[in-house]
Amino acid sequence: MRVLSVASEAYPLVKTGGLADVVGALPAALAAHEVEVRTLLPGYPAVMAALQGALTVWAADGYFDGPARLLAGRAGGLDLFVLDAPHLYARPGNPYVAPDGADWPDNPQRFAALAYAAALIGQGAVGRGAAGGTAAGGAAGEAEAGEAAAGWLPDVVHAHDWQTGLAPAYLALAGGRRPGTVFTLHNLAFQGQVPASLLAELRLPASAYTPDGVEYYGAIGMLKAGLRYADRITTVSPSYAAEICTPEGGMGMDGLLRARAGVLTGILNGIDTAVWDPETDAQLPARYSAGARSGRAACKVALQTRFGLTPGRTTLLFGVVSRLSDQKGLDLLLECLPVLLEHGAQLALIGSGDPGLQDGFFRSARAHAGQVGVLLGYDEPSAHLLQAGSDAVLVPSRFEPCGLTQLCALRYGAVPVVSRVGGLADSIIDANAAALAACVATGVQFAPVTAAALAGAIRRTAALWQDRRAWVTMQARGMRTDVSWAGPAGAYAGVYEEARKQAVLF
Ligand code: ADP
Ligand code: GLC
Repeated sequence: MRVLSVASEAYPLVKTGGLADVVGALPAALAAHEVEVRTLLPGYPAVMAALQGALTVWAADGYFDGPARLLAGRAGGLDLFVLDAPHLYARPGNPYVAPDGADWPDNPQRFAALAYAAALIGQGAVGRGAAGGTAAGGAAGEAEAGEAAAGWLPDVVHAHDWQTGLAPAYLALAGGRRPGTVFTLHNLAFQGQVPASLLAELRLPASAYTPDGVEYYGAIGMLKAGLRYADRITTVSPSYAAEICTPEGGMGMDGLLRARAGVLTGILNGIDTAVWDPETDAQLPARYSAGARSGRAACKVALQTRFGLTPGRTTLLFGVVSRLSDQKGLDLLLECLPVLLEHGAQLALIGSGDPGLQDGFFRSARAHAGQVGVLLGYDEPSAHLLQAGSDAVLVPSRFEPCGLTQLCALRYGAVPVVSRVGGLADSIIDANAAALAACVATGVQFAPVTAAALAGAIRRTAALWQDRRAWVTMQARGMRTDVSWAGPAGAYAGVYEEARKQAVLF
């Protein structure tokens, strides 16, 4: 089985959130299921710089208003196709946002061009014959990685999130031979609604601009297109799959999702257990395992030092690593910070995003020096240290398709304290009396998602912290929970098999 995965980010090359983690880690896990994945990415500067053994497999002059070529090669441990189109992607920094903080105005064209390239690969329009297979640079012999890709034809195209939602649409609307298609929804909050006037420029036929096509309330819906045209839809947890089919959780797409519920599956994400491994993590001052956890003490001291907190082994230390957005519910944490402080606990937070939230946490850190420590920004070594040194990790999201930080927390021995939504509900077992008696609890859940319920969860966590035996048992159990991609990769392989049956082969 050959799968072309297409996305706007992939760890370790470009990452703004969990999408990159998933796109970067799934290919290796799928290899065990005889699934061969190539990943198509935009030629951002970071991708171009890392690309090795690149071979040009296709080129065009007027591709979405500029010259473009498709390179095949390897980078970041992934077999790649890279759409090298400098007029679209040769820009520094964040993949979506200009240095002034606004979205790039041509994001519709930038991501439609990516999706269109996926469709070309899926149709077999790309290969040695198409462009003569010329090496795109690098020493002779380096072109090996690219060679393997020339003429490569996928059985399934797997598109992720709104940026690539048009890929299944292009393939379906072209009407000819095509592979099966899978669309994975990582976050319904980002829908890629773009002006209807772009229809022709985005290479969509006028006939597709209907409510049963790509039209969405007077605009072109790029996410909607993926949900409408893909043979199979997945999202990143079973609970989120159910939530998005309701008016409350569907963000305007619930009608379409209900209509397609027969082809919608929720598959809980895993994490890359090689990147996230406390036994080998070089970013930690000490390493440890579920069976030998003493190294955590050094990590806690290092974390307290890095975040300006008063060192202390017995102080309950809560950690947060998150985008600061409405989704993540961290305004609720600001609201009930007094409860956390009253219990003598500490808070270490790393994140960036909403200026109001950044300001709120920054002020709290100033007002409660030694008890609240905040790093504004994005820093992976600090994220690893935070998972290794915190006693508990807070994830009070209003909605959470899957969430990866609670999975990292389980693996690193930080007890997750989470709202009971989406993938948080599916991955953490609440330490209620029955779960404690049955010895299955791995964390603390709360509902509804309010400041009062979060305050209650903080109180329960503080009470559990007092019972050292119960705490360390729960911690060790969390560390032994399987959060790898092994199980989920098998589920994706099954979905690919179903999608392949929908391929059009003539
Ligand atoms: P989302 O994709 O909605 O942001 P996830 O929990 O799925 O949420 O994934 C977030 C990913 O980004 C995790 O790998 C987490 O460690 C990482 N991350 C989030 N914020 C930061 C930060 N400020 N610094 C470093 N890593 C971060
Ligand atoms: C999105 C979601 C997050 C999920 C991630 C990877 O960013 O917000 O819950 O874990 O995608 O699937």
